[in-house]
Amino acid sequence: MKRVAILISGGGSNMVALADSMVGDHPARPCLVLSNVPDAGGLAKAAARGIPTAVVDHKPFAKDRAAFEGALTAALEQAAPDVICLAGFMRILTPGFITRWQGRMLNIHPSLLPKYKGLNTHARAIEAGDAEAGCSVHEVTAELDGGPILGQARVPVLPGDSPDTLAARVLPMEHQLYPNVLRRFVTGDRTPVFLP
Ligand code: GRF
Repeated sequence: MKRVAILISGGGSNMVALADSMVGDHPARPCLVLSNVPDAGGLAKAAARGIPTAVVDHKPFAKDRAAFEGALTAALEQAAPDVICLAGFMRILTPGFITRWQGRMLNIHPSLLPKYKGLNTHARAIEAGDAEAGCSVHEVTAELDGGPILGQARVPVLPGDSPDTLAARVLPMEHQLYPNVLRRFVTGDRTPVFLP
């Protein structure tokens, strides 16, 4: 049985979708939900599902990214994950940390990569007048939001959309896409998933 650690910073809706998908004949189970934010809403959702949780608050480490990541690594090694899923995890990871987990770490990003790396993705798609938007699951590499794409889901951008209405259309697709990609990834299948 493969072990999956999920890193969150907020509500953890993607974590819930991933955790709830790992049942029955699924070849993986969640082994840890870790947040850098002590009161992240997702922690209670994980605990309610009986998933071990941990907090590594980044604030005490101030600018010392390496020290924060040292604490992160210690918590992760306790759980001994085979795969790490970043799911609404809002810290930028250094190349050192990424190299340690490269090939075993995924992220979901709310845009059709390679478009709109970074933040405010929905506002930028609307601003650009794009007819479509969506989300991407990719392997995490040292280039921010730049690793190999393992899946994408597309939604229309509708007239009058705001970043919030577009986000609300994309998020349910994230909850379909990420579990779909993870199920393949844990079996070593990197064939990209495209929805719809
Ligand atoms: C989502 O937009 C996701 O694309 C991004 O973080 C946001 C919140 O995710 N990675 P969640 O509800 O905390 O999973």
